[in-house]
Amino acid sequence: MMETAALSPGCGVEVKGVSLAEAQGERLDAIRDLIYRHGVAVFRDQSVSPEEHIAFANRWGGIDINNYFPLTDEHPEIAVVRKTEDQTTNIGGGWHTDHSYDQVPAMGSILVARTLPPAGGDTLWAHMGAAYESLPDEMKTKLEGLEAFHTADHIYAPDGLYAQTDQGTALRGQELKTGATHPVVIRHPQTGQKLLYVNPGFTMHFTGMTREESLPLLQELFAHAMKPQHQCRVEWKPGTVAIWDNRTTWHYAMNDYQGHAREMHRITLSGEALAA
Ligand code: SIN
Repeated sequence: MMETAALSPGCGVEVKGVSLAEAQGERLDAIRDLIYRHGVAVFRDQSVSPEEHIAFANRWGGIDINNYFPLTDEHPEIAVVRKTEDQTTNIGGGWHTDHSYDQVPAMGSILVARTLPPAGGDTLWAHMGAAYESLPDEMKTKLEGLEAFHTADHIYAPDGLYAQTDQGTALRGQELKTGATHPVVIRHPQTGQKLLYVNPGFTMHFTGMTREESLPLLQELFAHAMKPQHQCRVEWKPGTVAIWDNRTTWHYAMNDYQGHAREMHRITLSGEALAA
């Protein structure tokens, strides 16, 4: 029997009574629906081998291989989100939504905890439906028809953000060029909910405006979206799996466990083009 409990009033759900390794058919449809609406779902005490992780993602509907994170030879579908005990920088340590720099962005991600620090290393999510809904009406009107440009080049290029850190040599794809334009407010492809679709990691400017012209409004939207009432937080334990919707949420991996290793396996789920 599947049971659910909200993680916070605005974001996230914990799901009990489900074995992800076996979930399919109506059970999988029910999980999908929860994630579309709550943004992220957390499953505890799961036993998911790399093969079962891949099989579940394929049952969901397809895998987008990440261009930047290390992959394993045995399972190239799985991106390894790793921080060793000697590294000081983590991956994903700022608010972002995965792959918004693709014109057909990934639907979501499935993250499986493999190695955890003794304390810390939580992940935060923020619900962009709740963020849009709580905007003042004048701001909603101002955003109508606006589009924004997203890229990952400033993060992963040879002179980008990670290259200045001790994650630099662990990552791939420094030569890639990315860029995509999406509406600033999208409709969720399955639920029709209106979602704020800009994020601090990858959104550079509004179409027809420079970065400098765009920054005041972008920063206002970012500050609004990351308000605590739109967020939830997950403390990882052995056996925890989180599945999230990239259209509905941003996420942020806390980097508060210096001197300890953390390793997660991420599969990114294929998505569809986005529309207002
Ligand atoms: C990410 O996908 O950004 C990583 C999230 C995490 O490691 O908690």
